[in-house]
Amino acid sequence: MSRLRITGGQRLVGEIKVGGAKNATLPILAACLLTPHECIIHGVPRLKDIEVMIEILVTLGAEVTWSDSSVTVCSRHLSESRVPEELMRRMRASNLVMGALLGRCHEFGVSYPGGCTIGSRPMDLHIKGFLSMGAKVKEDGVIEGKVKKLQGSCIYLDFPSVGATENLMMAAVLAEGITIIRNAAREPEIVDLQSFLCKMGARVWGAGTDKITIEGTSQLGVSEHQVIPDRIEAGTHLVAGAVTQGDILVSNTRAEHLEALLSKLGEIGVEVSNDSLGIRLKGGCSWRAVDIKTHPFPGFPTDLQPQIMSLLALANGTSVVKETVFESRYKHADELRRMGARIKVDGRIAIIQGVKRLTGASVEASDLRAGAALVIGGMAADGVTTIDNVHHLDRGYERLEEKYLGLGADIKRIDS
Ligand code: EPZ
Repeated sequence: MSRLRITGGQRLVGEIKVGGAKNATLPILAACLLTPHECIIHGVPRLKDIEVMIEILVTLGAEVTWSDSSVTVCSRHLSESRVPEELMRRMRASNLVMGALLGRCHEFGVSYPGGCTIGSRPMDLHIKGFLSMGAKVKEDGVIEGKVKKLQGSCIYLDFPSVGATENLMMAAVLAEGITIIRNAAREPEIVDLQSFLCKMGARVWGAGTDKITIEGTSQLGVSEHQVIPDRIEAGTHLVAGAVTQGDILVSNTRAEHLEALLSKLGEIGVEVSNDSLGIRLKGGCSWRAVDIKTHPFPGFPTDLQPQIMSLLALANGTSVVKETVFESRYKHADELRRMGARIKVDGRIAIIQGVKRLTGASVEASDLRAGAALVIGGMAADGVTTIDNVHHLDRGYERLEEKYLGLGADIKRIDS
């Protein structure tokens, strides 16, 4: 297992380029199962989660090649419709193959997925949608779906689940008739999936709104696509620049994907602006406490809640954070307390009393975004911070320590 060693107090200065979006690439890779023709995806980040999804596609019989940041997938001959438990347990997004397998192979077999321990993360909305499209779904430790031919349906999601929206979009493109998904998730990654599906000949429209319509078609062709930039990676870098009182340009990112964060950073007192090159940030040296409530897009992203907590830990005053998307996404608070942060957690509410400084400590990453919060805290703290379990970070950030080293941070990876 490797760990990171950070000596805090260095300002981040310079340009940092954002990679392709993990959470756009994962459903798009799964969607390659829908067509027997070749798909080429550009801008794919080198992340552990992407490697797992590719391993799943290969296990199902797809041919996959990955050169530089382009992945080619050919699912002409799928030999399997069941994903081994070992692979399912490595990440939550492994469940994104269910819809495509149901559409293409008329069956799937998966176990309950693993991934970040940030809540119970049931799949009832995915299954409810499949059932309404005529599939039979059995759940007894494993989840098995079977259908002669999926039928279009009108599906209302009790919660705008990103994964359920994506799975049902993929299932619907080969169904008979029209499917309408109401209360659909509106994330930019959903819009990117629609764009990829339409390039292969699917008839999908409405992504980005809460109503998505899919007209089933009998066959799909080739698709070539450049994934959108990773807005969560970009947001992570912006918070890192702020907390180190830095002066950075975050390039290859879209401000319209980060409106909620940019607005909050402005309230906190961080100077941000955007131009054709990306988003510029000047960190300043004192920050106002603010209240934050996470919410599905376009609200404040739950995936940036841990990171901004590291900034609020040093703000003047008391901030209140309400995590409305996941029921237990505050493990990073325990670790930030080891660095001197004053955070009280009560259910979905965290109360953060800003302190003058954080002090380096030995901490542990519990999940991907919690790990990012600790890197940010370590760069802001006085003294040395060591972060264990950085394999969590590698699931969603490509060479994070190298990127921050390049901006002046004193950070290095120690392989133990
Ligand atoms: C996606 O996860 C992202 N992952 C997550 O990012 C992100 O935090 C989440 O959406 C919310 O934005 C990928 O895209 C690969 P959900 P997903 O289904 O699809 C409940 C990261 O750090 N729910 O929108 O699993 C669920 O329990 C990761 O990159 C049901 O109740 O999230 C949760 O409380 C972490 N029943 C809420 O909805 C269901 O059937 C949001 O889940 C499905 C979900």
